[in-house]
Formats: sequence, C-alpha cells, structure tokens
Amino acid sequence: MRKVLTEDLEAGMKVAKPLYLSDGTVLLNAGVILKDSYIEQLKERNIPAVFIIDENLPEVEVPEVISDQTKLQATQTLRECMNDISLGTKLNARKVKKAVNDIVDEITSKNHVVVHLNDIRAYDDYTFGHSVNVTSLAILTGMSMGYNKLELRDLGVGALLHDIGKITVDEGILLKPDSLTDEEFAEIQKHTRRGYEIIRDTEGISSCSAHVAFQHHERMNGSGYPRGLQGDEILEFAQIAAVVDVYDAVTCDRVYRDAFAPHEALELLEDMMQAELNHEIVQIFFENVAIYPIGTLVELNNGEIGIVVDVNKEDLSSPVIRLIKEDDEIEEIDLMHNEEIEIKEVITDSKRSEYIED
Ligand SMILES: [Fe+2]
Repeated sequence: MRKVLTEDLEAGMKVAKPLYLSDGTVLLNAGVILKDSYIEQLKERNIPAVFIIDENLPEVEVPEVISDQTKLQATQTLRECMNDISLGTKLNARKVKKAVNDIVDEITSKNHVVVHLNDIRAYDDYTFGHSVNVTSLAILTGMSMGYNKLELRDLGVGALLHDIGKITVDEGILLKPDSLTDEEFAEIQKHTRRGYEIIRDTEGISSCSAHVAFQHHERMNGSGYPRGLQGDEILEFAQIAAVVDVYDAVTCDRVYRDAFAPHEALELLEDMMQAELNHEIVQIFFENVAIYPIGTLVELNNGEIGIVVDVNKEDLSSPVIRLIKEDDEIEEIDLMHNEEIEIKEVITDSKRSEYIED
C-alpha cells in the first residue's frame, strides 16, 4: 500500500483503503479499480491523495490507533455539533462525551499503541478529520503522561472541540491557499476565544476542556495567540493539544501542499520545542509516533531498499525492514539488533520510480 497524490493517480490503480467523507458515506471502497471518471470526482472534491495497492511491494498491515467506526462516530458527532451551533442550538454535551469516552476506552484498552500513517482527508472535511486525530493523539499522549480516565476524557473533549470556533470564521479565509493578510489572520485567531465561549456556555463540559480551545495556539515563549500566555500560564491540556495540533496539521495532506513525512514533522517539532512547545510533552509524544511508519519505503546505508514492516516500541528510529529482492526471496532485518545498518533515506512517492520498477 502506498499513498498517491490525486494528481498522480492513473486509471487501473487499485484502492487499498476505503475513503470516507465526513458524513460517513464511503466515496471509494477498498479493492475498487480506479477509472478516469472516479479520478475526476476526487479532483472535484479536492481530495488530496488516496491509498493504492502497490503490486511491487509486499502488503503490510498498518495498525490504526482507533477503528474506522469510532473515528466516524466522532466525526459525525462533531459535524452535528457544528450544525447545532450554526442553528443557534446548544452543544449536545452528552453526545460529545460519549464519542470521546469511546476513543478513551479504545486507546486505553490497547498496549503499546504506536501512531503510524495519517489519514487522508477531504479538504471540506479538514476540521473534522483533524479534530478527531488531535483527540486520539492527545489522549495517547495524556495516557503516557499518567493521566487517569477522567482526566483523559476532559482532555479528549477539549481536543475534539478545540477548533469549534472555526464555525464562526469565514470559509474563504479558512481554506485560502495563499498567505493571509493581517486582517484575515486576525479573523482566524478569533476561533480560539469563540470556541472557548461556545464550550463554556455548554452545560456538563468542564472548564478545563473549554480552555483547550482558548489556549491551543498559545506558545511557551509567549509568541502565541490570543493572549500571549507563557509557560505555566498555559494549561497542561492545552500544551498537549498544541503539540499534537502542530504534528497533525503538518502531516496532513492539504490540497495546496504535500504533507510532511513523519520524520520531517518530528524534526519540525524538535525545532519548535526549543522555544514554543513544552519539551517534555514533545519527548513523550515522540515515544508514541513511528518515525518510520509501517509501509514506508527506505534506502539503507548499505544500498539496499526495503519496506518497514514492524516497529520497535523501545526504539522507534530502528524499525524492522523487509528487503526488496529481485528473486522474491523474503529477508528481514531488525535495525535494533543490527546497529551497523541504518536508514539512509526515506523514499518518497515522487522518488519511488528511481528505485522501484513498475
Ligand atoms: Fe486552532
């Protein structure tokens, strides 16, 4: 399986993972062979990329942090919340909590959850897909920090609703591909305070959750918004949300730019951690994210090409690689136990044809 940008899709390619829209409908099912008309539809809907079965690579199972079903339920809940707000009705706290509890239960019931590939989301679904991802990443991080279930739930509710204030921001500004004017940026910044007010006015949701919306763009050195809070002035929940929000935003495909690979996103977090993000939280987050997710094509320092088939939770920078051999012979190397062999480079989709013959 590999991710192919919509502009590079060709008729005849086989879909590897179902592609859902935020209302729960399946746009493309796994196993479907692409036709030109389908590719046109994907372009019309501004869907940035699709997972495709790659016959030249061994098929590997990529574990998910939460099931598609749980993810869809959370997405639909969020969509309903957004509808409620635009209709002037109050948020349904019970539904939000139910969706978050399910995510908490699913994540806490698993051992050694490691985050692998990101989803591919449609641009009109960006806020939904992003919010659900931020929720599971925040809960996973909170779990590693020793939070109990009650804390994880409050953190999760805040994370799921962190961008809810965006409902009040003009779509044209939210989806604008080029850089924003000062006025437009000021308008976007308002989503934090507005989100806070919406959640605060909802009965049954804790004020900590509301502050996640208020503070998730604050930065440790005071360079964030809306209030320029610093260090400990920022609630720990919001510090977690800030880390996972940045990670998910940069690893997500958007129509106007390619996603960063996880190793690039982690480098960016490492840079930001110097001043803007909480060091310790970033470190803990790193422990849960596969730098080289299962399915990544890599070149090793001995010149061999392989695909990541498993990760070592104790050392995520040293995964297990299945070498790609001419004669279909299967040979795997565990980099944790072969210290002289390292990953030299990640082979991105655009460079793939230089390494793999179709
Ligand atoms: Fe935000």
